[in-house]
Amino acid sequence: MKKGIWQEFDGYQDVVEQIKVSRKLGGTAAAAVASAEEYIRQLHPERIQLAVSEIIEQTPSTKTLRLVSKNNYLPPFMAGQYIALFLEIGGIRTSRPYSISSQPNQTGFYDITVRRVENGLVSNYLLDKVKRGDTLIGSGPAGNFYFNPLIHKKKMVCIAGGSGITPFMSMIREIVECGLDRTVTLFYGSKTVDDMIFGPELNRIAERFDNIHYVPVLEEPADGYEGACGFITRDLMKGVLADIEDKSFFICGPRGLYDFCLPQVQELGVPERKIKQEMYGAPADIRQYPGWPADIGPRAAFTVKVKGHKDLQARADEPLLVALEKNGVVVPSLCRSGECSMCRVKILSGKVFQPAGVPVRKSDRKFGYVHACMSYPIEDLEIII
Ligand SMILES: Cc1cc2nc3c(=O)[nH]c(=O)nc-3n(C[C@H](O)[C@H](O)[C@H](O)COP(=O)(O)OP(=O)(O)OC[C@H]3O[C@@H](n4cnc5c(N)ncnc54)[C@H](O)[C@@H]3O)c2cc1C
Ligand code: FES
Repeated sequence: MKKGIWQEFDGYQDVVEQIKVSRKLGGTAAAAVASAEEYIRQLHPERIQLAVSEIIEQTPSTKTLRLVSKNNYLPPFMAGQYIALFLEIGGIRTSRPYSISSQPNQTGFYDITVRRVENGLVSNYLLDKVKRGDTLIGSGPAGNFYFNPLIHKKKMVCIAGGSGITPFMSMIREIVECGLDRTVTLFYGSKTVDDMIFGPELNRIAERFDNIHYVPVLEEPADGYEGACGFITRDLMKGVLADIEDKSFFICGPRGLYDFCLPQVQELGVPERKIKQEMYGAPADIRQYPGWPADIGPRAAFTVKVKGHKDLQARADEPLLVALEKNGVVVPSLCRSGECSMCRVKILSGKVFQPAGVPVRKSDRKFGYVHACMSYPIEDLEIII
């Protein structure tokens, strides 16, 4: 073809390639691209309409909600992933992530297992108000807390606290129901026997399958209890695990469990690359967190100016994301524990406190972006969403 000025235009080569592909496929390349995009949308939908098909009581404070798709299709997931539920409760539009506790080969439903949090907005709503047949809006499965055969050892050590058992339940169910070649030693910390979610099922599985070892650890055992008591310590783990060299460690639960157990695992000599963690949200009391500025009083609040919205007051001990939602400012969110970066906002002026370890990208830090779910106002702020 004779060389013309159009060959200098941006995208010229892309169009030439599309024409070639179109001729080869006998249709337009754009159509092929569109159908690929549609396929990707099905695999990773932004929102799914879910119906509550069953509610199963697990413990006095915990229920499993069985969720089926209203569109007859549930995207696949990896055992350990979560979905976020998007709700409007008392005029507040918010979301919360819940790990899927059913196993991935069970394609007809997602189970989520919800534990009541004292004064918690969403957990109490899900446990007390939601009934069979109700519709809930969820995200597609998300998160990277799953077994990766390229990275992880087949011998897994799983450390769970409270509702942090749910992703491990999905993994263990998949291993035993699909006969996967993996071994799990599960340390599960709980206050009392009655608080243990899935306790009877875990006992049954551990009795039947040689590759699943279950070590419940009770903080407040009843008189005469013969199992492990107290916390999940280095010495307890050392006594149970013959060797740590050939194992990968997974930790899941409230931030307090992580703050206690991570140093214990590190003291065993486990390198960081062999430890994977999932944190169940923001710290229960940020004022107790290392580095919290001592001059910020318990009832401190600051003014937040949000471009395009009315000024609002935000408590210092509450994540900025929560203050925004309470004032009708909706910020996209998914993990609500600092990991996914969906809730990024740009700070134009003022300071926030961010707990150590929140993975904010280097470029975001440079240009003043923070994760609103893990940022606490400690001065008046001006922000853009
Ligand atoms: C990836 C991920 C997966 C999760 N999976 C599950 C799950 O399978 N089952 C489940 O029950 N929860 C799970 N959670 C926690 C869940 O998302 C909510 O945080 C929890 O239900 C509390 O929400 P709430 O609206 O009731 O409480 P909020 O109104 O948000 O909080 C009320 C108070 O309780 C504190 N608080 C919040 N969450 C906890 C907690 N988990 N433990 C102790 N104190 C807390 C807050 O700091 C606050 O002071 C998961 C969290 C994450 C990040
Ligand atoms: S919602 Fe994921 S980082 Fe804030």
